[in-house]
Amino acid sequence: MFNKRVKIKEMLAGDKANYEATVMGWVRTFRNNQFIALNDGSTNNNLQVVAELGKFDESILKRLTTGACIKAIGEVIPSLGKGQKVELKATSIEILGDSDAEKFPLQPKKHSLEFLREIAHLRFRTNTFGAIFRVRHTLAFAVHQFFNNKDFVYLHTPIITASDAEGAGEMFRVTTLPLDGKAPKNDDGSINFKEDFFGRSTNLTVSGQLEGELAAMAFSDIYTFGPTFRAENSNTARHLAEFWMIEPEVAFNDLEDNMNLAEEFIKYVIKYAMEHNKEDLEFLAQRLEEEEKSKPVIDRSEMGLIDKLNFVVDNDFERLTYTEAIEILKESNHNKKKKFQYLIEGWGVDLQSEHERYLVEKHFKKPVILTNYPKEIKSFYMRLNDDGKTVAAMDILAPGIGEIVGGSQREERYDKLIQRMEEMHVPADELSWYLDTRRFGACPHAGFGLGFERLVQFVTGMGNIRDVIPFPRYPKSAEF
Ligand code: 4AD
Ligand code: MG
Repeated sequence: MFNKRVKIKEMLAGDKANYEATVMGWVRTFRNNQFIALNDGSTNNNLQVVAELGKFDESILKRLTTGACIKAIGEVIPSLGKGQKVELKATSIEILGDSDAEKFPLQPKKHSLEFLREIAHLRFRTNTFGAIFRVRHTLAFAVHQFFNNKDFVYLHTPIITASDAEGAGEMFRVTTLPLDGKAPKNDDGSINFKEDFFGRSTNLTVSGQLEGELAAMAFSDIYTFGPTFRAENSNTARHLAEFWMIEPEVAFNDLEDNMNLAEEFIKYVIKYAMEHNKEDLEFLAQRLEEEEKSKPVIDRSEMGLIDKLNFVVDNDFERLTYTEAIEILKESNHNKKKKFQYLIEGWGVDLQSEHERYLVEKHFKKPVILTNYPKEIKSFYMRLNDDGKTVAAMDILAPGIGEIVGGSQREERYDKLIQRMEEMHVPADELSWYLDTRRFGACPHAGFGLGFERLVQFVTGMGNIRDVIPFPRYPKSAEF
């Protein structure tokens, strides 16, 4: 059978030798007209395929170029070379796909991440991106495993919605109406969305939370894991216009239960990746160490990647209120010496990422959970605390990343929720289905959203979020 092949990872791990096997993969390098470094994406380690001198036609040898895809059959033998247990002594080599060495953009040398982003369709074939996307896979798998072990129901929330779950107005519109001024109009000149595909104005979801809450009011414990979209014009290393979010929603949980769940979850998935992607993480740790060397000493992190991950798994996250955090920031030397771009003058201001990073990286030097934010700077659905000023919100901040989780206990009291919606100009008539959960069997409940790419960034040590999703979408870019 054509596809009866052994994966390179399996072959290299095996202590078995002296058997015939077929391998397929892409040529990384071809040295001395004899040694092929072959990679099939199962591991960053290449298999050495030996094309013994004189045994192969010149016409085949000259097609063994970087990037070419080949099938090789031969004997797996103990390797004399350093760094590998076995190699394949080829008896037959077939070129499955040629790659013109002159034109293939990936050369066997170091390319910048910026350059590789421009050829995202080929960057999977580098060691760095091979490692990143295998880790991403493992983390995604661990997410499902964690919730499955706890008997949560995986809920698929809609991608096209008519609501703005966050009330922040950062939505991509979904429409089939013509754009060239021929869209049907109302008498007042506004666009008549009754004529649109769904008979109303719709958009891509910014969060599956509201629908998730509906299901939690039946299954008790649910989670979503899907793409979400934000049309915010943020050109940063931590924002994407399309990102994946994990959103558990749990009936009968309060804010503290919510924090416990989030902390346990983050530790679980990191640990899982450390156990199942050891080699890739070691490679990424090495990469990061090299990258750090080019930075000024004060910007370098104190811990290597593996130490940092171990530290997060082994230590409790620091928990404090927004009010306590503001005090720390206000009194900090950083603030007094005016080193923040946005100085902290008093209670009520939203925290900028510079403040979050100060708390996490300089003050506590560990992940931090901030709770009980002023109601004005958080979403309408968060539960109002007894002080009437703060809501039962929680954000988890991670070193090098800033906010990785946003969540809250939800406002389950109908009257209070309606009042908050009015204050924040959220149209109650469009969310009557959401309000129904507060009319029929409401209960205390809580949930959070974890930005999957920020998690992958944290675990892989990559500085730019555009490098941890296969095909990033951000302002002015939707290539591939
Ligand atoms: O804090 P956010 O906006 O919270 C929600 O959407 C809630 N509905 C979640 C919930 O309670 N179920 O977003 C949650 C997380 C952030 O903490 C961040 O990690 C990530 O989603 N995130 C982004 N990641 C990449 N690019 C963006 N533009 C992001 N916006 C938010
Ligand atoms: Mg948030």
